[in-house]
Amino acid sequence: MNVLLIGSGGREHAIAWKLAQSKALTKLYIAPGNPGTAQHGQNIPIGSDDSSKLLEFARQNNVGLVVVGPEDPLAAGIVDKFESAGIKAFGPSAKAAQLEADKAFAKQLMRSSSVSTAEGRTFDRFEDAKAYIASRDEPVVIKAAGLAKGKGVFVCDDPSDGILAAEKVMCDKIFGSAGDRIIVEDKLLGEEASILAFVDGRNIYLMESSQDHKPIGDGDTGANTGGMGAYSPAPIVTDDLMNQITREILVPVVDGMNRSGAPYRGVLYAGLMITAGGPRVLEFNVRFGDPETQPILMRLKSDLLEALLAVCDGTLDQVKLEWDPRPAVCVVMASGGYPDDYQKGKKITGLEEARQFEDVVVFHAGTKDQNGEIVTNGGRVLGVTALGRTIADAKTRAYQAVDKIKFEGAYCRRDIADKAIKTNK
Ligand code: AMP
Ligand code: GLY
Repeated sequence: MNVLLIGSGGREHAIAWKLAQSKALTKLYIAPGNPGTAQHGQNIPIGSDDSSKLLEFARQNNVGLVVVGPEDPLAAGIVDKFESAGIKAFGPSAKAAQLEADKAFAKQLMRSSSVSTAEGRTFDRFEDAKAYIASRDEPVVIKAAGLAKGKGVFVCDDPSDGILAAEKVMCDKIFGSAGDRIIVEDKLLGEEASILAFVDGRNIYLMESSQDHKPIGDGDTGANTGGMGAYSPAPIVTDDLMNQITREILVPVVDGMNRSGAPYRGVLYAGLMITAGGPRVLEFNVRFGDPETQPILMRLKSDLLEALLAVCDGTLDQVKLEWDPRPAVCVVMASGGYPDDYQKGKKITGLEEARQFEDVVVFHAGTKDQNGEIVTNGGRVLGVTALGRTIADAKTRAYQAVDKIKFEGAYCRRDIADKAIKTNK
């Protein structure tokens, strides 16, 4: 089968790497891809938002399955478009993608499905938000309701910082129209975990647990980013907790989506805070997480293409996936300055040396091939991912590979997976 994968980040490199191992794959196309995905298939110079060109390409090249990586094309209805043209597409419909694209919709669905989440209120007017925040003396979390590349959340211990954040989002429009509406939430305390599940409308299959590291700085300090590193499994997520998450979060949400006339198909990603009172939802994403996908797929032993097709066909109950028991750790190497302004076009060296390590994969994200040389081309540049005997071993191995790779201004957190290592002790 010919497959067209849409996207160009580290997540897409990991998906391409894994799909290329499938026996059922004939040809893999990636639009637009990056130099990493080009190692496993053919990059096609069509942007992920150009659904008409993508459809034309799929028709001309006998594509049997389209796999959509990022949230923007999903929210814009790319899956609906392919399906009406009779081409299978992996991911939710535009209506179902609201679970990520509209945090107010997600909050409402959780409320009506009795899913535990932070108390929150929705505001369309800055003056109202300001009055509400000013009336509180506890920490607040300000969230742009629309899509903001994972950066639309401000955790403010001091409510006066909350007012400033609300002003930036609603009045200064730092995320454009994604900030026309905001959610003001209570701050939850605990440890975070990401649970990704395949959902075929009815059946739910949980992948192995993982944990992201959103803030830019060591010790979870500084601004939120798209994600600076991840590990899998997350030791905090015990089997009992997995069962509770399925029972109290995933099943009610999948049922709620059916009731609301938007059956859910694709990857359902629950970003959770494991509080003293149990797991609570921070957010839903309607796709594979980035960088969680890198360690998760390094641990998947079964055929990813079969699983994706089962989701599209509604036969997920017949799929059994096998996982490598060894943990995996992914360290993101970013451009200096990210998540604010940064420079591009810096030459990257050491990729070959890093590649020599066994059970290490360097997933490309913001990179570009410039006349045969790999240069930086984005904020998050590489996701260096290693399997290890233990999570501590996986961490050591990932950083050994990181230390072989150089580019001007390269930055990474040095404490990825420390939380898991502490939990395991
Ligand atoms: P989100 O994109 O909604 O997952 O938020 C990004 C990050 O902000 C999360 O990974 C958490 O670290 C933090 N966050 C979001 N909502 C809350 C909350 N209600 N309480 C505490 N931290 C939060
Ligand atoms: N790692 C967080 C995300 O994919 O949104």
